[in-house]
Amino acid sequence: MGNDARVTDGMHQADKSYGRFITLEGIEGSGKSTLLPYIRTFLETAGKSVVVTREPGGTPLGEEIRRLLLDPSYDSLAPSAELLMIFAARVEHLEQVIKPSLRQGRWIVCDRFTDATYVYQGEGRNIAKARIDALVDWVQGALRPDLTLIFDVPVPMGLSRVSQRGEKDRFEREEQRFFERVRNAYLMLAAEHPGRCQVVDASAPLDVVRLRVDTILRAFLHDS
Ligand code: TMP
Repeated sequence: MGNDARVTDGMHQADKSYGRFITLEGIEGSGKSTLLPYIRTFLETAGKSVVVTREPGGTPLGEEIRRLLLDPSYDSLAPSAELLMIFAARVEHLEQVIKPSLRQGRWIVCDRFTDATYVYQGEGRNIAKARIDALVDWVQGALRPDLTLIFDVPVPMGLSRVSQRGEKDRFEREEQRFFERVRNAYLMLAAEHPGRCQVVDASAPLDVVRLRVDTILRAFLHDS
């Protein structure tokens, strides 16, 4: 079996020479991007070679797709077109960055991944889960994150943080009800995958949130 097949089979999870795949999720304004440099430093201090990346994005084509997806002038983009653009970017990201890095033993810290698709396109845009499952099956095979941190904040808190950042992107312009659905879907997803997903209460001050992240990462490093 070639290396590539082992990664897509999810076999890297059992192989110590492979890197680990950590994803950060949460609604807008949950603070995940603020914590990303901290998580990188934490893992590097533990001796890991770390690749920090994001979705949509992470490759030149993926970043172009991201720009289009976030552009408020495409406000009538069909949900299915949005979904397929996200997966087009994801294929590039998996093939060019994620799989090769894991094979080299590097640890990926990715700002959003497929969980975001289930909650934003699935629950947010009402796309049937089976359609997303089919795309996941096609482009990821059995590859899943090893650890997912879900930064949870009440929607009004997240949105008030976003409103302080300036011009809102196409997603940030959605109404509060949309984000309530997204937040609830993240919490349900965490309940469905208790082994992989860890919910972090991110409404606390940053220092407290960091300590919570510390505890989770320490336990994960211990078990990896
Ligand atoms: P960001 O705000 O975390 O940078 O992410 C950009 C937006 O992309 C965010 O509003 C959520 C959205 N998104 C999806 O709708 N589906 C996805 O699969 C991903 C990865 C992101």
